[in-house]
Amino acid sequence: MCCAYPGKMFDFSPVHDQPKAALYDDLRQAALGLTDGERDGIANMANIAALIGLALPDLNWAGFYRMVGGELVLGPFVGKPACIRIPLGTGVCGTAATTGVTQLVPDVHAFPGHIACDAASRSELVVPVIRAKKVIAVLDLDSPLASRFDADDAAGIEALVMAIADRI
Ligand code: SME
Repeated sequence: MCCAYPGKMFDFSPVHDQPKAALYDDLRQAALGLTDGERDGIANMANIAALIGLALPDLNWAGFYRMVGGELVLGPFVGKPACIRIPLGTGVCGTAATTGVTQLVPDVHAFPGHIACDAASRSELVVPVIRAKKVIAVLDLDSPLASRFDADDAAGIEALVMAIADRI
């Protein structure tokens, strides 16, 4: 597995026609492999965002917002340039960060205060990253399809986030 040290190539090829639980198992293992032995949290977030962008179909944005000085600040992502700062309690990300609870939003237009960084986004999944009982970041996935994410996606991303929380 890529790339904690030079000379190793990224070789993760997700199999899409398998149950979601198996896909997310593979994804979590790949994320652990990618971040193994690397102490730089930004580098690890960058590779995890890229991994998710490659592995999951029908996304238009995937990335992190970090808790910095009492607000969310844009972190590594794949997708269009996005809003840089999100106040706590605002939008889907700010709600996930404030409550510490995953936000599964089938229709972003129906979510009060949704922040539209990319007009193409129709549904969204935001999972808080919790370390030592504190929300240190959120992982945000956006899709141009309505109802793209279900409870299996939420559970899979929550397990991934829990696995890498100490590495970002
Ligand atoms: N839609 C998010 C903002 C971040 S972008 O989707 C990348 C929200 O409502 O918090």
